Order: sequence, then structure tokens, then C-alpha cells
Amino acid sequence: MVMDQKLLLVGCGKMGQALLSGWLKDGLLEENVRVVEPLADNNLQSRFNLNFVKSVDSLDPNFHPEFVVFAVKPQVMDNIVPLYFRFVRLQTVFLSIAAGKSTKYLESLLTKNAPIIRSMPNLPAAVGQGMTVAYKNSNVSKKQKVNATKMLEAVGEVGWVKKESLIDCVTAISGSGPAYVFLLIECLEKSAIELGLNPDLARQLAIVTVSGSSGMVRKTSESPEMLRKNVTSPGGTTEAALEVLMGSDGLEELINAAVIAAENRSRELAE
Ligand SMILES: NC(=O)c1ccc[n+]([C@@H]2O[C@H](COP(=O)([O-])OP(=O)(O)OC[C@H]3O[C@@H](n4cnc5c(N)ncnc54)[C@H](OP(=O)(O)O)[C@@H]3O)[C@@H](O)[C@H]2O)c1
Repeated sequence: MVMDQKLLLVGCGKMGQALLSGWLKDGLLEENVRVVEPLADNNLQSRFNLNFVKSVDSLDPNFHPEFVVFAVKPQVMDNIVPLYFRFVRLQTVFLSIAAGKSTKYLESLLTKNAPIIRSMPNLPAAVGQGMTVAYKNSNVSKKQKVNATKMLEAVGEVGWVKKESLIDCVTAISGSGPAYVFLLIECLEKSAIELGLNPDLARQLAIVTVSGSSGMVRKTSESPEMLRKNVTSPGGTTEAALEVLMGSDGLEELINAAVIAAENRSRELAE
């Protein structure tokens, strides 16, 4: 992956740790990574066996990273990003995972000439099964884009959009999406318990049904629609359930309304 690239990670909370574990698992050398994290304690240090620093001022002045990755909360970006101005050069990409913070915003804190990537990962990145979608400004070269893809692939799959406004849609689908699937699992589990299954078995059924079905869509060449039709025998149990789920104001309308609400909120938060 990016073993020959030097990385500076700013912020080592939930997402920062997910990225860092993915990189190290993929073979990133210890000497090629630095992490700035004010709360770095012994647990974090020993988990990663790396030298964390508490502020940018403590970094070795001879460390010139190819990537500076911002994994801090959006509300602290105003204060933090300008501290990294000294790393601006054509060979260094600034990659942000902060929700709602545009490339224009980052350019205003760094400079218009800085190569900048804005990306939206999702929570399953923490178990290496994330979905990250990214947008780059025009200063990012083809090679830098390839390296950024490899770097983000350390925690799952990666896609790119050519229009930055589509990041709001991505947020509404894959960014917030894990919560929709968790809700589906919760609902299946609750119904199973109400119908008499013990809680452990109810949870197992709900989880394995969702992961198995998703695994099957991936592994077969059939569309989800075809797989649904194949499993629905006329007059059978699945058909009885789908008549409820696919009735008027059913699941499709509900999901569509939910996604639109999330997309609108993403846009509002970015303003
Ligand atoms: N979690 C998700 O599912 C998800 C999905 C997509 C995008 N994101 C984005 O990912 C970013 C990080 O989210 P998160 O959930 O990982 O948040 P988090 O767990 O709060 O991590 C942020 C980390 O940055 C640290 N930090 C604060 N000030 C710093 C500074 N001056 N220099 C370096 N590090 C500093 C924080 O320390 P303190 O605790 O001391 O503040 C914290 O450890 C956010 O911008 C979010 O929008 C998250």
C-alpha cells in the first residue's frame, strides 16, 4: 500500500485509530508515521507501539510527510488546520475526514495551491470494512490520488466523486447508513423476541441474516432485486412479509425519505 509514503495523522480518536491500525496492518513502517494526539496515554502508546506527540510543535522538523491526515472533530478544524501550514508543498496532500468541511474551507486555512482531499469514511472502517468516498481539488496529482486510494483502502473500499456536493449524498447513504442497518438488526431482533425466541438466538438470527444476505449479494452475480424475487415463492411466507414491506408508504418510501432528511441535514451542517 503506502509503505514508502510518510504519513502524519492529526487526531487519534475512533476514526484515527481505525486508520492507523489499517495502515500498520498493511505494512506501513513505524518510522514513516507520526501521530499528533493531545490525549495520547500509555494505553494508546502501547496499543500501537509508536511515538505519539501532543502537539505539532513537538514534531521532528525533518519529517516531511506525503500525507497529512486530519481526523479531528469538525468544530476544532478552525484552530488546528492552520498549525499545519508549514507542511504545505506540492508533494504533500492534506486529507481530511471531517464531516461538512469543504475543500474550499481547507484551502482558506492552508492555501489555494495545497493538494487537498476531502473524504467521508464510515464506522465499519473500525473493523476494516468501511466505505470511504473522496473528492480531490485540482492540485492533487494522478499519482497522489492513487496513493490516497491505497491509503484509504487500508480500512475498506474506496470510491471517488467528481462533484464535491455529492459528498452530502454519500453522507446520507454510506456515512449514516450503518445506523440504518443497525436499526434493521434491532427491529428483527425485537420481533424475534416478541415471537418467543430467546434474546441470544434472536440477535444471532438478526445479525447473520443481514451479514449473510449482504455477503450473498456480493458473491453472486445476481442483483438484489433478482435475489429477492428468487426467494419469494407465490403464496409463501416471504411474500406475506413483502406485501407489508412493499405496500404503499412501505420501506422504499421510508428509506427514501430518511436519506433525503440526512442529505439535507448534511448540507445544513456544512453551511
Ligand atoms: N466516527 C465516524 O463514524 C465518522 C464517520 C465519518 C467521518 N468522521 C469524521 O472523523 C473525524 C473524527 O471523528 P472521531 O469519531 O474519530 O472523533 P474523536 O473520537 O473525537 O477523535 C478526534 C480526536 O482528535 C483529537 N484532537 C483534538 N484536538 C487535537 C489537536 N489539536 N491535535 C490533534 N488531535 C486532536 C481528540 O482529542 P480530544 O478527545 O482531546 O478532543 C480525539 O482524540 C470527525 O471530523 C468526523 O466528522 C467520523
